[in-house]
Amino acid sequence: MTRTGLTGHKKEFGGQRMNDKSLTRRDFLGGCAAFSALGSSTTAAADDAPSAARAFTRSPPPITAANQVVNVMDFEPLARNALPPAHYGYLATGADDDRTVVRNHEAFSQIGIRAFRFNDLTRFDTSLALWGSVWSSPIYLSAVSAMRAFHPEAELGVARAARACSTQYMIAGGSSDALEDVAKARGAPLWQQIYPTDDWAVTAGLIRRAEGAGCSAVALTVDSRGARNSETLRRAMASDNRQCENCHPGNNHDQVRKSPFYAGLDVSKVKGLAPADQSPAFLDRVRAAVKGRFIAKGVVTAEDAAIAVEHGVDAIIVSNHGGRNEETLQATIECLPEVVAAVRGRVPVFLDGGVRRGTDVFKALALGAKAVGIGRPYGWGLAAFGQPGVEAVINILNRELTTIMKQAGTPTLASISPTHVLKLLPTGK
Ligand SMILES: Cc1cc2nc3c(=O)[nH]c(=O)nc-3n(C[C@H](O)[C@H](O)[C@H](O)COP(=O)(O)O)c2cc1C
Repeated sequence: MTRTGLTGHKKEFGGQRMNDKSLTRRDFLGGCAAFSALGSSTTAAADDAPSAARAFTRSPPPITAANQVVNVMDFEPLARNALPPAHYGYLATGADDDRTVVRNHEAFSQIGIRAFRFNDLTRFDTSLALWGSVWSSPIYLSAVSAMRAFHPEAELGVARAARACSTQYMIAGGSSDALEDVAKARGAPLWQQIYPTDDWAVTAGLIRRAEGAGCSAVALTVDSRGARNSETLRRAMASDNRQCENCHPGNNHDQVRKSPFYAGLDVSKVKGLAPADQSPAFLDRVRAAVKGRFIAKGVVTAEDAAIAVEHGVDAIIVSNHGGRNEETLQATIECLPEVVAAVRGRVPVFLDGGVRRGTDVFKALALGAKAVGIGRPYGWGLAAFGQPGVEAVINILNRELTTIMKQAGTPTLASISPTHVLKLLPTGK
């Protein structure tokens, strides 16, 4: 696939000029498989589509409703057009050169699917039963902070979409809407994502608040140890000439002092999102404080997976924060097998990062994931259309998952196994 370098060029960005020194288009757009020319009405499928498909993507009619969108990647340019530069930059950004963002997605393309024909699909079912709940599919909405930056419906719109689609919603600790209101809108227990923070009194307060609002699980994000190098975000902010003071008094982007989730807690001693000492004893401390399910979010190695299980977690999420925290150049789908092997079936393993197709979900399940989270895609859907956009993203992924499960001859999630995937050789080898 070609990479379109924008080095040294000025480009149109969300209606404003942006001086872009080193971004490539693919990097900036968050790992999508194919992108439209910036600002053009061409669909996202155009760049990399084979010539026959391209013939149908050159001059598409303008998209005015979520249900006209063909695939999840097509929401990305719609979101970019809908958002001011800084907010789009926040959604898109990775770390350093954004190459882990890209790799998260592209690594799925290096896995093939083995399809079997002689089997019985009479009792076909995509649902997942987990911890006493039944989801319509193994796809859940992972934590994305500050959804009001993308659409006025914010987390309430996401929760209503999750309710309409019977999808599990992990609300971010940095949400713009209050947890209790979002829980009511969802109408079923949320999962609450929290950062450990470096003040235990605050951490314990967050856990109590989550459980008081009926959250069935607390997902502790363990991958945010220091200030991240979000260059794409910084470039986007520099190109954004709006006055942000109304939304961010004092230009404050500090979720601890902004999000309603922290309201009522004394956060004066919090200096970071994680303690400097995040050794296994810290996991024990959180384990003892969480009465419901305790999930470790952000594990990418077998060694850490073994520690997390030994220290009492109920599930592990293989995640690199959507490539936003550090540039490891390791896709989560590449990290999944070693984590699954280390966990040895003792707790469920989930995965997020770069999931844009039903086939991506299928591949993750085949490699041992129990469920699969999405981040940016539903942010794009919300930005473009509000609640209907989030529903459309979920529905497209569910439809695509249904298709590939039928084609591969797998009537249930449990029937998807390592035998259904293989590592592809590089093209031409
Ligand atoms: C704008 C944005 C904000 C996010 N905020 C959080 C957060 O507050 N806490 C967290 O654990 N993960 C956060 N994430 C990471 C997601 O939960 C998830 O791991 C990631 O987005 C998955 O990759 P994907 O965007 O490629 O689907 C955020 C992701 C994005 C895009």
